[in-house]
Amino acid sequence: MAAPILFFGFLALSFSFALASDPSPLQDFCVADGDSNVLVNGLACKDPKTVQASHFSFSGLHLAGNTSNAVGSRVTTVNVAQIPGLNTLGISLVRIDYAPWGINPPHTHPRATEILTVLEGCLEVGFVTSNPENRLIAKVLQKGDVFSFPIGLVHYQRNVGNGNVVAIAALSSQNPGVITIANAVFGSTPEIPVDILAKAFQLDKNVVNSLQSKF
Ligand SMILES: *[C@@H]1O[C@H](CO)[C@@H](O)[C@H](O)[C@H]1NC(C)=O
Repeated sequence: MAAPILFFGFLALSFSFALASDPSPLQDFCVADGDSNVLVNGLACKDPKTVQASHFSFSGLHLAGNTSNAVGSRVTTVNVAQIPGLNTLGISLVRIDYAPWGINPPHTHPRATEILTVLEGCLEVGFVTSNPENRLIAKVLQKGDVFSFPIGLVHYQRNVGNGNVVAIAALSSQNPGVITIANAVFGSTPEIPVDILAKAFQLDKNVVNSLQSKF
């Protein structure tokens, strides 16, 4: 009696682990071959015999990103696009710079949970739970504090000080993806019809037009 229960329990656990992040690798590494025309889930592998240390490496994360933009922040990504050796490994990194009172606007990563640490400054962070609660879970982080953002949930950060903030975040995907809410909703190409957005957000059509022109 116990054996089948254990077996199915194990099966269920295996599936939940497999679905929690990128699929597990079936070899030591699969360095992305940027020249391959093969389309797979991820990127095709280079011949392992040709793989070098440079395929696993990136330089320059000590440099501040340029925050002279409308939101006052800059994300410098280190994912499979910068490190081909991350292909199939389910992990990546970003550096985020924030000007005083700069924000990283509400966005979501369709493929990754994120864990962020503040290296410098004071950063307000928050995420919103899914329907029907839509509860905001937020706090202010100081230097050395760590916060995590569950996969798929809308989240943001704001520098709540007069100095710069620097944060480093790890993400549980080689290619986490980013959906910035304002850009996706008001800045799609082609545009979502104005009457749909007016009804969805309970806004006057002129306000929707104005938002669409900004994104
Ligand atoms: C930062 O970006 C702004 C706006 O794009 C640009 O004008 C400025 O030259 C950039 N600064 C540096 C140091 O690259």
